[in-house]
Amino acid sequence: MPDSMKIIIDTDPGQDDAVAILLAFASPEIEVLGITVVAGNVPLSLTEKNARKICELAGRPQARVFAGASHPLVRQLVTAEDVHGKTGLNGPDLPEPKMPLQKQHAADFIVETLMREASGTVTLCPLGPLTNIAMALAREPKIARRIKQIVLMGGGFFEGGNVTPAAEFNIYVDPHAADIVLKAGIPVVMIPLDCTHQALTTATRVAAFRKLGTGPGIAVAEMLEFFERFDEKKYGTDGGPLHDPCVIAYLLKPELFSGRHINVSVEIASDLTMGMTVADWWGVTKRPKNVTYIRDVDHEAFYRLLVERIGTL
Ligand code: BDR
Ligand code: CA
Repeated sequence: MPDSMKIIIDTDPGQDDAVAILLAFASPEIEVLGITVVAGNVPLSLTEKNARKICELAGRPQARVFAGASHPLVRQLVTAEDVHGKTGLNGPDLPEPKMPLQKQHAADFIVETLMREASGTVTLCPLGPLTNIAMALAREPKIARRIKQIVLMGGGFFEGGNVTPAAEFNIYVDPHAADIVLKAGIPVVMIPLDCTHQALTTATRVAAFRKLGTGPGIAVAEMLEFFERFDEKKYGTDGGPLHDPCVIAYLLKPELFSGRHINVSVEIASDLTMGMTVADWWGVTKRPKNVTYIRDVDHEAFYRLLVERIGTL
């Protein structure tokens, strides 16, 4: 069996973050070195607790969760309780976590891990605002060369934004951090709304999770039922987009995704378009290609993978 993929998940759970974490834990090809947590969907005190709840739901209380930034680098924190509920994880009734929060700051854990592990072996999987990653790069710029790749959920171009007409939530919350990360010379795979809007949590798909009959299966169904209500109303679709698990699915089965290697630049000046990810899809500028920009996913196969793997927990 080939070596497992070593990853750090940087996250702001969030129901879709939770499903991504469960998928990673359910996948023997992946070794989760740690979970770093950032403020985003809800404040840090809740996202760190939610991350620990999910580790315990997955039966992984030994996993290590590190709290990081409580606010973006420059702007005020914007949260998304309207989508995710007051706790960020509304839906299932999960017990208060017993496992401890690690003492080390998330950015220090990221730096220490990348400097310790062999260069080019660790993938970062950001599922929220990029504040912790930018902080880690500021603390130790040498990590940029040691990161295998960053596979992140964020951005959107053809579909427009979901928090403003121009911007997707994760990038909008900390556009300055996103700008730093995209300019750091690290190989980046960006999974934007253009892709995740194809991965809808239809009633049939939610029922398939419930039918697993396990604690994690039922909790996923309850999370998705809560989470999709906001988006169904907004988009008029059967179900809402399941964003963050696409990142882990990309690691497991990249052949389900397609995109193009292009330049993506982040707007950090204009109030009107703050946080927009300007994707040079047609190569009309000479800006350097810094991102593999994903546009499509085989969503049937994506959900088959999710249900199959969550079923093993
Ligand atoms: C992203 O924003 C959050 O609400 C979700 O967890 C996802 O990471 C989608 O725009
Ligand atoms: Ca998220």
